[in-house]
Amino acid sequence: MRTKLVAGNWKMNNTVAQAAAAVETFVQHVDAKANVDVVICPPYLAIPKVRELLRNTHIKVGAQNVFWNEQGAFTGFVSPKMLDEFCVSHVIVGHSETRGRFGKLETPESTLGYFAETDETVNLKIRALLFRAMSPILCVGETLAERQAGETERVIQSQLEGAMKGLDASELFTFVVAYEPVWAIGTGVTCDTAEAERVCKFIRTRIGAMYDDELARQVRILYGGSVKSTNARELFSQPNIDGGLVGGASLDPQEFSLIVMSA
Ligand code: 13P
Repeated sequence: MRTKLVAGNWKMNNTVAQAAAAVETFVQHVDAKANVDVVICPPYLAIPKVRELLRNTHIKVGAQNVFWNEQGAFTGFVSPKMLDEFCVSHVIVGHSETRGRFGKLETPESTLGYFAETDETVNLKIRALLFRAMSPILCVGETLAERQAGETERVIQSQLEGAMKGLDASELFTFVVAYEPVWAIGTGVTCDTAEAERVCKFIRTRIGAMYDDELARQVRILYGGSVKSTNARELFSQPNIDGGLVGGASLDPQEFSLIVMSA
């Protein structure tokens, strides 16, 4: 039986002071005994404070991105080793906003390798995280144009294969996949529950085919894209949806606690 997981991706929101206030309110509202794993992914600068405030709770701290080398001349980046120092448990990789395919701003091919994640760099990040025993939350999902062209499965399959290339099943038991259709992120348009379940089931089946049934049964698959307290219960009750990756609604501590309770 997979324990549900709800992760809040704060994106580029909340100063350290705002983060502290949000976490304090959230801890007051959320049921500490609920059988659900909760992760908050604040901006890097707020990680130490959030970690300090959550130290005696069951809520974990995650990060929104990572570089794959442990140290070096990589201006502006943060390494797995640096995150490990603050006991970061989960790290989001391959988010559509960091893949550079968000909205209409497609990154030119020539700069993709530097400024946007590719399947290759996502794979390097996953390896670096697993080496440090941190759980990657791999985001996959199609754009509206890809969906309309009937390419949803092809896109997701190629993102999964690229990200997981060369990884062994024995390394992947803490691995999390988030199905985030790009057209549902921050738009208020949630993917229809039956369709979200269908795609999450497809992801599980692909993992079974790439590895084995045992891993497919264990890997947690989340849905992300305009999750709110009003739609969370229905989404999270689907057999192949093991929780959510929540953006905007995770910024409101009361709303986020209701979403967590829905799981
Ligand atoms: P929203 O919940 O704001 O749509 O964002 C989803 C997301 O991108 C989480 O990573």
